[in-house]
Amino acid sequence: MTACEETQMNAHVDLPAVMAACARRIGTVYLVGAGPGDPDLLTLRAARLLQQADVVVHDHLVGDGVMDLVGPQAERLYVGKQRDRHSMPQSDINRLLVQQARLGRQVVRLKGGDPFVFGRGGEELQVLAAAGVPFQVVPGITAACGVASCAGIPLTHRDHAQSCTFVTGHLKDSTCDLDWATLARPRQTVVIYMGLSGLDEICRQLVAHGLSPDWPAAVVSDGTLPSQQVVCATLATLAAEVGRAGLRSPCLTIVGEVVRLRQTLDWFCTDKALAD
Ligand SMILES: C[S@@+](CC[C@H](N)C(=O)[O-])C[C@H]1O[C@@H](n2cnc3c(N)ncnc32)[C@H](O)[C@@H]1O
Repeated sequence: MTACEETQMNAHVDLPAVMAACARRIGTVYLVGAGPGDPDLLTLRAARLLQQADVVVHDHLVGDGVMDLVGPQAERLYVGKQRDRHSMPQSDINRLLVQQARLGRQVVRLKGGDPFVFGRGGEELQVLAAAGVPFQVVPGITAACGVASCAGIPLTHRDHAQSCTFVTGHLKDSTCDLDWATLARPRQTVVIYMGLSGLDEICRQLVAHGLSPDWPAAVVSDGTLPSQQVVCATLATLAAEVGRAGLRSPCLTIVGEVVRLRQTLDWFCTDKALAD
């Protein structure tokens, strides 16, 4: 029995006042990172919140393995976005989160990877803050880290890279206004999120701005999952190789000398149960 229900059972209380207080009770929104796909990569806190939530508002990239951890009491609301197929505008998602919290529910807003890395998590929190809705953030493993680990590509191996840059390759209006000169410098690793459709152009720009056509690059699809596929090639050949292999979204592109290390560090076994 909740504290509200308990109070209502007491004959001496002012019932209208109690009802008004209950109506004002507001839930918390937990902005939770679901990691890159493999449910074993969730944080313990994320798993606990999924068990306890009243409602889980989830995205396209949150896989079945993670959703299986949601408690049976929770309502599941899918608000996923896919390229060119926005199922719910961002403003409606923001409104939904505020509404659900104002119903007094504990809301898990579940996003792929980490909610603050190319995930619009910050935008959603700004709306909650403006509406006076309490919130907490639970970080997740971002795709760059999870996917590179499972592809056997150490992003900042110190023999090859002094820095690692995460960029989005999402082409707005078919153009990509990245700082190509900076991205084309050697001794760094560049990780490109959402770059599959513009892969050809991305590789061309990196070569045009100074990297060798032989520079190593890889695309990983469905990283961390049993369906993971990795194509390693060069900037000159990557787009064609990825096309030949038929890789599908979600895909992450990794550019840099560290890609070569996969030849000896590829450890991923699709039947992880055998490896554990
Ligand atoms: C909208 S961004 C969200 C990123 C997420 N917030 C994160 O921290 O990983 C989605 C992109 O992340 C990358 N991505 C996410 N999960 C992936 C996976 N399992 N394998 C490969 N790429 C992935 C893809 O580039 C995909 O297009």
